Amino acid sequence: MIPREELLSLAREVALHAHCPYSHFRVGAAVVAGGNAYVGVNVEISSYGLTLCAERSALAAAIAAGVVAGSITQVAVACIDVQQGAPIQDRTPCGACRQWLADLAPHAVIYVDGDMRDFKIEDLMPFAFGHKV
Ligand code: THU
Repeated sequence: MIPREELLSLAREVALHAHCPYSHFRVGAAVVAGGNAYVGVNVEISSYGLTLCAERSALAAAIAAGVVAGSITQVAVACIDVQQGAPIQDRTPCGACRQWLADLAPHAVIYVDGDMRDFKIEDLMPFAFGHKV
């Protein structure tokens, strides 16, 4: 386990590398498996719909490094440009990222920077689609 605050701090730090020339909304994510952390940022593309969120970026980095889906234990997300005290909806993972989390990190505890709660994917996405292949 990486301490909650340490992982959130890593997510905030990596968010500084976000590529978001359109929204200027920097997001960082860090996922943990086997005691190692894998990070990601949002990457925006001129064809806006092809933008990659920080959470999916971090999950892809973990998978590329050899992490087995399901072994991710912690996820931290930090939206560093959000106003202090802004509602939780301004900083939680989007729907697409929730599906990625449901598939790849179903057992993880999810930390959202600026919110005290420890979330599970079931809290964020009840009745998530999923099927065995
Ligand atoms: N974004 C994320 O990286 N994660 C989310 O879950 C929500 C949104 C990014 C996408 C886009 O680059 C910017 O935040 C504004 O929507």
